[in-house]
Amino acid sequence: MSGFLGSTVGKKYLMGITGLIWAGFVLVHMAGNLLIFVSNDAYNAYGHAITSGNIVYVAEVILVLALIAHVSLAINLTVNNREAKAQKYAVAAKGKKRVTLASRTMAIQGSLILVFIILHLITFKYGTVYTTNVHGTEMRDLAKLMVEVFAQPGYVVWYVICLILLGFHLKHGVGSSFQSLGLMEGTYRETWRKLSIAYGIIVALGFIAQPLYIFFGR
Ligand code: HEM
Repeated sequence: MSGFLGSTVGKKYLMGITGLIWAGFVLVHMAGNLLIFVSNDAYNAYGHAITSGNIVYVAEVILVLALIAHVSLAINLTVNNREAKAQKYAVAAKGKKRVTLASRTMAIQGSLILVFIILHLITFKYGTVYTTNVHGTEMRDLAKLMVEVFAQPGYVVWYVICLILLGFHLKHGVGSSFQSLGLMEGTYRETWRKLSIAYGIIVALGFIAQPLYIFFGR
């Protein structure tokens, strides 16, 4: 790749955009899943509604392409970064740069989240197909599968760990994307930074609530 998209800045820009596509998806996914707190029927009817039209295929293609681009760029930038760091600097860098545990471990978090996504699809999307009837319409009973899965402590612990990691990844990732898009400049810098922290916390807690509610509350 040459030109802007082949440069480090261009790659970071693309990583930001593809990351934000996924960040948008997880927020919608988390919000939709909250319907499990209303009733099994509400949750199943929602799942049925969004998977009945063709729009779901468009969304899936966009998500798969964005994930492939995001992961390949992450590998590329991490390798380049390691090579650059292997060479000693003539002059030590000056100035403050926020280096947190969340920012230093982005590649490890990302790898675990990728494993999580693959296993998660096997568990749910390609998992046991139970069916139910809601107001006369036959549909998949994903709520039953969810209750079955989260009755197992191992799944609950694995989900909670991965979702905490996702929260940190989103917190740092959304912030970095804003930076790549040039939003972290000037007076609104702090606002965008706080927004990315809030985003990570809201998505992680919203998701974590589901396995905990099913395991302890039902
Ligand atoms: C408590 C946490 C979560 C629960 C209970 C949950 C539940 C589900 C269920 C039941 C499905 C199947 C939907 C269907 O086939 O119609 C699904 C699909 C999916 N989930 Fe999750 N999910 C959770 C967290 C996540 C997270 C954190 C991610 C991403 C990082 C994610 C990514 C996906 C993807 C990509 C699909 C496939 C969507 C599609 O093919 O249209 N999920 N999830």
